[in-house]
Amino acid sequence: MRLSSSVTVRAARQSDRPGIVELVLRAKRLNEEFDPLLRLSPTVSQAVEKYVDEALQSSRSLVLVAEYEGKLVGVLKADIVDRLFYDPPLEGIIRELYVLPEFRRKGVASLLVLEGSRILKERDAGIITAEFPSLHKIAAEFYENMKFRPIFSKYAIETEKTLRQNGGLSRVAELRR
Ligand SMILES: CC(C)(COP(=O)(O)OP(=O)(O)OC[C@H]1O[C@@H](n2cnc3c(N)ncnc32)[C@H](O)[C@@H]1OP(=O)(O)O)[C@@H](O)C(=O)NCCC(=O)NCCS
Repeated sequence: MRLSSSVTVRAARQSDRPGIVELVLRAKRLNEEFDPLLRLSPTVSQAVEKYVDEALQSSRSLVLVAEYEGKLVGVLKADIVDRLFYDPPLEGIIRELYVLPEFRRKGVASLLVLEGSRILKERDAGIITAEFPSLHKIAAEFYENMKFRPIFSKYAIETEKTLRQNGGLSRVAELRR
């Protein structure tokens, strides 16, 4: 059953704060499962609370919630940023998109992204991007289904491993020769 007709998507209110914090925390815990480089900080709960408070107050952020029978079942958080070197000059970045497991595959995330796109367009963002862990294949399929495509990649290594796994100081000396 497609549920989206009984799910309301709307701008978040201050009273939604506890529910949004819970959903964003779930999203961060899920990220941790995808990659050891996304290990959570011991103070993640406080960090998420501060992050949500800032997002709810900032005119450069957009927070949308999906509600079903009075309960928050999904969230989208986006930021509007300047694209210094590119045209169009403003970008809406979807930094969080999360739907509770029992409400998935019913069009809720699609509804959040479509409503988010409508508002970001109103706020003059000419391009919309989305961030998610590279190993998260479902997120890639979701966004590809919505006709997004990859434009940038972010590769990572622990700093102390860079030298160790690339030939150490002898390799540095070799490259300097
Ligand atoms: C990714 C996520 C947001 C999708 O939410 P959703 O409400 O289930 O998405 P929709 O129902 O709108 O799905 C639309 C389309 O995306 C694709 N899709 C969604 N979930 C999928 C899955 N598990 N496997 C493959 N394709 C999937 C499908 O093409 C789907 O269309 P269909 O159901 O007609 O086949 C949800 O799975 C989720 O919250 N996951 C955990 C957090 C997360 O991964 N966030 C995204 C990146 S930060």
